[in-house]
Amino acid sequence: MEWTKEQRYRKIEDVTEEELQNLANLVNQCPWRQSYHISPVTGLLNDPNGFSFFNGEYHLFYQWFPLGPVHGLKYWYHTKSKDLVHWENVGIALHPTNQYDSHGVYSGSALEKDGVLYLMYTGNTRDENWTRHPFQCIALMDEKGNIVKNAQPVISEVPEGYTDHFRDPKVWEENGVYYAIIGAQRTNKTGCTVLYKSADLMNWIFLGEMETGLTEFGYMWECPDYFVLDGQSILLFSPQGISPVNDEFQNIYQSGYVMGKADIPAGKLVHGKFTELDRGFDFYAPQTMVDPEGRRFLVGWMGLPDIDYPTDINGWAHCLTLVRELSIRNGKLIQKPVRETADLRGNQTDGQADLENSSITLNEFEGQTYELHAEFTGSTAQQFGLELRVGTGEKTVIKYDRMDKKVILDRTHSGVPVAEGYGSIRKCALDSEKVTFQVFVDVSSVEVFVNDGEEVFTGRIFPKADSRGIRFFSKGGHTRVKATKWDIKK
Ligand code: FRU
Repeated sequence: MEWTKEQRYRKIEDVTEEELQNLANLVNQCPWRQSYHISPVTGLLNDPNGFSFFNGEYHLFYQWFPLGPVHGLKYWYHTKSKDLVHWENVGIALHPTNQYDSHGVYSGSALEKDGVLYLMYTGNTRDENWTRHPFQCIALMDEKGNIVKNAQPVISEVPEGYTDHFRDPKVWEENGVYYAIIGAQRTNKTGCTVLYKSADLMNWIFLGEMETGLTEFGYMWECPDYFVLDGQSILLFSPQGISPVNDEFQNIYQSGYVMGKADIPAGKLVHGKFTELDRGFDFYAPQTMVDPEGRRFLVGWMGLPDIDYPTDINGWAHCLTLVRELSIRNGKLIQKPVRETADLRGNQTDGQADLENSSITLNEFEGQTYELHAEFTGSTAQQFGLELRVGTGEKTVIKYDRMDKKVILDRTHSGVPVAEGYGSIRKCALDSEKVTFQVFVDVSSVEVFVNDGEEVFTGRIFPKADSRGIRFFSKGGHTRVKATKWDIKK
């Protein structure tokens, strides 16, 4: 279905109860509704926003177009949690209501100051020629969850040298000063980020561009984030316009980080190479937060802009990833599911096998939503790994190629194809004798944490049948697999 501009910019407030109910019914008939991932009740979810801990709870908002699976008029939808795994739908947090956000309450972040949660976001507007005018805005949330928008934007002008692609403020505090980093496009159509500082989160002073070594790296950098972890300065961003290089940058748009030493007041970052955060298919616009224990968490949008998904016909699209904890090991950024994810573990099944050029289904290893650990040791095989959501003609494959020293996620036969033009196989280099896969399977997704968070592969899958099988295999030699499966308990 083609969506007209009028349809995309309708407000949910103008839609009848009956129409919303019909849409909800259509959504609920979808065979691919997720069971433990944050998903929209109807319509389209994209970027995580305002990820924070406030008043004893985690808050996670997201970009939401309620009325269908397209990028239309965006709201902030609010979810909250006490444990990072069970999320409660709170409702709409920010509505597009005024001349500073008339065409969407776009992405942004949150920070607490003096018992108030400051939400900083981009108000997207379009004039009669459909030219964009972005405003950076603030809304305040109190401890009862009441949210009030500040009457005026806090940054109304795009600085000289940048286009109207200027959005997604991420705020933090460093040495008593507040900073915001904003995704931008230079007038020469290259992507970058810029920095602002503030003493009170309301009055912002332009510091200039964050200088990096990536002077010509795509045409726009969306959703930047910046933090220090273990003494390392890390800049995350989602660049658009990067071409594939060998196994990397295969998706329509990328999302990754650079790591090094930053001098924020001086706007300088000296860093290593840009590395993808996720090696799979569906991952974009991640955001981080730090919790009261000092843990740094990351959550991403399990989807991409400008790609059709099989759930579109049921009036909804996308979900968020599980929450990951970040750390640094041997100079590398490590991502592991937060320890609270273990609260989802229900019924446990254990098994092991020696595989010699063979494939096996372990007793009681099957399912649709589960966590699976598989450890492969003593391998001489050329390839070994596992297949999940196996059914008639269907399977999703996660394997290690010992010859090429690569981990591979293959969704060629997962079910209804997605974004086929971008390929159905993803690979990433890994040099290791012992290989472990920690896999989270939901009704229509897999997230694979390799070797305790060294690499992560995320992908949506859309099995056509009730495919539940799990198989372990080795090709061209031996491997020994030890596996544990937990059903998801809710
Ligand atoms: C990234 C993005 C942001 C923008 C938001 C709008 O996916 O394009 O740059 O703020 O989505 O929904």
